[in-house]
Order: sequence, then C-alpha cells, then structure tokens
Amino acid sequence: MAATDREIPDLLTGMATTRAIRRIAPDPIPDDDLSAIMWHATRAPSGTNRQPTRFVVLRDGPKASEAKSLLGEGFRAGWAEKSSSAGYESGSATDLSTPKGRQRAAMQHFVDHFEDVPVIVLACLMRYREANPYEGASVYPACQNLLLAARALGYGGVLTGWHGAVEGELRDLLGIPTHTAIHATIPLGRPLGNHGPVRRLPVGEVVFDDAWGESAPWVHDPEGTRHAGPPPNHKPLDER
Ligand SMILES: Cc1cc2nc3c(=O)[nH]c(=O)nc-3n(C[C@H](O)[C@H](O)[C@H](O)COP(=O)(O)O)c2cc1C
Repeated sequence: MAATDREIPDLLTGMATTRAIRRIAPDPIPDDDLSAIMWHATRAPSGTNRQPTRFVVLRDGPKASEAKSLLGEGFRAGWAEKSSSAGYESGSATDLSTPKGRQRAAMQHFVDHFEDVPVIVLACLMRYREANPYEGASVYPACQNLLLAARALGYGGVLTGWHGAVEGELRDLLGIPTHTAIHATIPLGRPLGNHGPVRRLPVGEVVFDDAWGESAPWVHDPEGTRHAGPPPNHKPLDER
C-alpha cells in the first residue's frame, strides 16, 4: 500500500500516541515504506545543519543475520542486568496481573525474539570533534522522526542502547569507523500490540512559568490524559 493510500494520523496525534513497541511481527517492511521512514528520519535538524548522522539498516543482507545475533546477545545481557538491578525478578514483577509483571513479560519476549525483528537501525554519529555531552542532540531528533514516521505508516519500534555489550564486535563486523559513535539501536516492524496514548507526568508538573518551580497556570492536560511518573528509585540528584 502506498503511503498516500492509508490513513496517516495527524502530527499531533502521532506525537501523543507513539509508544515504545517491543512486540514486533517478523514480516519484512516493504522497501517503499522503509524508504519513507528513513527519508523522514533524515529530515531532522542537527547542529549547524552538519548532518553527522548515518544509519546502518540491518534487514536480511549478508551481514544482518550475524549482526542481529550479536545484538540479540547484547539485548539479553542488557535486560538481564536491568531486570536484576531494577527489581524485575521478585515481588509484583513476577505477577502478570500487575503493570510491572506485564512490562517484564514484554521485555523478556522482546529480547528472546530479537533476531526475528525484521529491521534493526543503528543510528550513528560521525564525530567532527571529541565526544561531548551534547553530541546526541544531533542524532536523537532523527531517531524520534524515524519512530514518528514508522508510527504514521503502521509500524513501530523503540530506541535502545543495548548494543553496548557487543559494540566492539559489531563495529568490526559492520566496518563502523573509529570516530563514528553508535548512539542508538532501533528495532522496527509491524507492532503485535497497539500504539496508543503515552502516559507521562501531568504537563503542569514539568512546565514552569518565569522561574524554576513556578507553576504555569496556562498549561493543562487535554481531557482524558493518562499519567505515569518515573520509577520510584529514580530521584533527581537535586532532590535526594
Ligand atoms: C535515551 C533512551 C534510551 C532508551 N534505552 C532503552 C533500552 O536500552 N532498552 C529498551 O527496551 N528501551 C529503551 N528505551 C525506551 C524507553 O524505555 C521508553 O521510551 C520509555 O519507557 C517510554 O515508553 P512509552 O513511550 O511506551 O511510554 C530508551 C529510550 C530513550 C529515550
């Protein structure tokens, strides 16, 4: 189906409903759709319009299956580390009737089926100066554009950093140059679940008016907005 023949959500709806999709069908993404997703990703802004982002797209090419197996190992290691450090191995996380239990099951499914995800995108940054804390700001807008475009065309994915455990081998396999950083690994495909309204903090808690901490009486959540806060053990340093 051509992009123009389907119902594409409007921009604001897309922004409010693009969730992290971790249950992904193995069906390939047709070339035209993947091309449209990548084109929209590459329209994102970057500092001084330097456009340092490059995307390595892993589908079914000669290197892809080896790269997917390597990444699968990295994702399983990443989740194993997180599930033990963030309390996913006991208490409510072991009960599928709780949100944490469902999240754990979704994560486990995600990493166990990683190799079946049809498209994995590595978002890379060609450095033109030493690594610095701001460089990701020239890559992540493109990643979000990519996810929004995928959402618009009926696909989904999630931005992750779990390539870290296997980065050296992955760089060797794919020939990624020394001064090019891998900033995100984004699995993509047709969602097995649904997109839907994301849950975040109430807008009034995160928008200040005129000075830090001053409430902004002119912001409000649209009716029906559902909320979620950060995990309980994630307090900002200033609040500890
Ligand atoms: C900087 C960043 C790093 C992330 N790293 C991971 C990751 O390593 N693994 C993963 O499964 N999800 C990762 N995520 C996805 C977040 O967990 C997800 O976007 C967040 O929980 C909100 O999910 P929701 O949009 O479905 O509510 C990352 C997201 C961001 C923005």
